[in-house]
Amino acid sequence: MKAIILAAGQGKRMKTGLAKVLHQVLDKPMLRHIIDNLIDLKINEAYIIVGHNQEQIVNYLNDNKLDQNFKTIVQDPPLGSGHALMQAIDHLNDYPGDVLVLNGDMPLIQFETLSNLVKTHNSCCNDITILTASLPNPTGFGRIIRDNDNIIGIIEEKDATGDQKNIQEINVGIYCFKWASIKNGLKNLQPNNAQGEYYLTDLIKYAYANKLKISSCSLSDFKEASGVNSRAELALANRHLSDINIARLLDSGVTIIDPKSTWISSNVKIGIDTIIMPNTYILGDVNIGGNCIIGPDSNITGVVNIGDNVEIKSSYLNNCNIGDACKIGPFANIRFNTILSPNVKIGNFVEIKASSIATHTNVSHLSYIGDTTIGKYSNVGAGTITANYNHMSKEKFKTVIGSNVAIGSNCVLVAPVTVGDNTILAAGSVITKMVPDCALAIARGKQTNKENYVKEKYAVKVEK
Ligand code: UD1
Ligand code: MG
Repeated sequence: MKAIILAAGQGKRMKTGLAKVLHQVLDKPMLRHIIDNLIDLKINEAYIIVGHNQEQIVNYLNDNKLDQNFKTIVQDPPLGSGHALMQAIDHLNDYPGDVLVLNGDMPLIQFETLSNLVKTHNSCCNDITILTASLPNPTGFGRIIRDNDNIIGIIEEKDATGDQKNIQEINVGIYCFKWASIKNGLKNLQPNNAQGEYYLTDLIKYAYANKLKISSCSLSDFKEASGVNSRAELALANRHLSDINIARLLDSGVTIIDPKSTWISSNVKIGIDTIIMPNTYILGDVNIGGNCIIGPDSNITGVVNIGDNVEIKSSYLNNCNIGDACKIGPFANIRFNTILSPNVKIGNFVEIKASSIATHTNVSHLSYIGDTTIGKYSNVGAGTITANYNHMSKEKFKTVIGSNVAIGSNCVLVAPVTVGDNTILAAGSVITKMVPDCALAIARGKQTNKENYVKEKYAVKVEK
């Protein structure tokens, strides 16, 4: 099976300089939601019909290494969804198989739904299989016209009579076609309708007249039918997709205290008895174990793995691995390529970047740890900084800190530098040289007390 994604529509109501299908829904562009579903369906060859936005879409495909399997075809000017599909004729020619056609502005469609559509198409040996849904408010969608049970056409909102507008069964905008059966009908579409467009949906009338086999597959959750034609619908699509994902997690044994202030994308997996507190964003390829408490006010993005029994309060995490029973926050920023072993504690106002921290080590207050490894059972005192960056040369350097190290408050470790095991760094030290195992390093000005200096200079009365 091949796929065709229709994405040339101008999205005029979006009022945007960005291709409509590149607008983000939760963690990725609408187009990517569709592409990822196709990859999961093992459809490795697809055409994307693009318009004046071609360059942006080609760049996106290139940047994400998708350009081998997903090719663009330009439709200029865009004269309707049928005209968009016509652009594929020269590319598919006498292709004997089936094509899955999807509107590019329908990012909420789930893998299972597409898989069911394809199964229905194959098991019924259909020429056309249409994805439909019954909506409480079908305004704006094409309505499915039936004669008894048989589908005989799709009528667009703008062409529909009053009676037809009352039909609640709608065309979602996703279809399977046996290419050879519809190719001639496609060539002969006419723009005889209220919008003066070539409607893809007119293929149904053609198929019925030519006695082709048509049936439908219906959506169980109508939220999946949310299309995006405006910013308001984009906002709704974000909400609906998060709601679909949250419903799945609630069902699987996760507590989500306030679904309305929680945003979760489709690739998030969470173990049982984990509690997600309000105002938390979990967007990306995120795996969270069981019995964790995440949030409130936390933001977890990118590729993140979090073990069991972890607590994260009011913190940002991006592209990192967090071991079992770690405690993070409040107000920590855990950045890319950070690996925390089990039982690490990261406290308030601590930033960790590209660093590995071994088990039972604490960085509890007001620190920056970058390009660093720290061994186990160490304690990093408040205000400690690894100075890893030379702004002039733009180079970054590594800091290596051993196990069972006691770093006093307010130390600066000027990288590259190594601190051995079982060492003490005195508070306020600026460490620029290697500290051998078992040493105490003191690197700060010595304290001098000038007796009675204040009393003599300022004549201060000291009352006891
Ligand atoms: C379309 C369907 C309607 C269905 C609805 C579901 C048609 C005629 N109608 O209506 O039955 O209920 O989707 O959302 O298809 N496109 C192009 N080139 C064009 C015009 C459109 O590539 O010249 C693409 C758009 O980018 C979009 C898709 O085709 O992804 C559908 O076009 P759109 O204008 O959004 O149609 P709707 O009015 O939503
Ligand atoms: Mg649309």
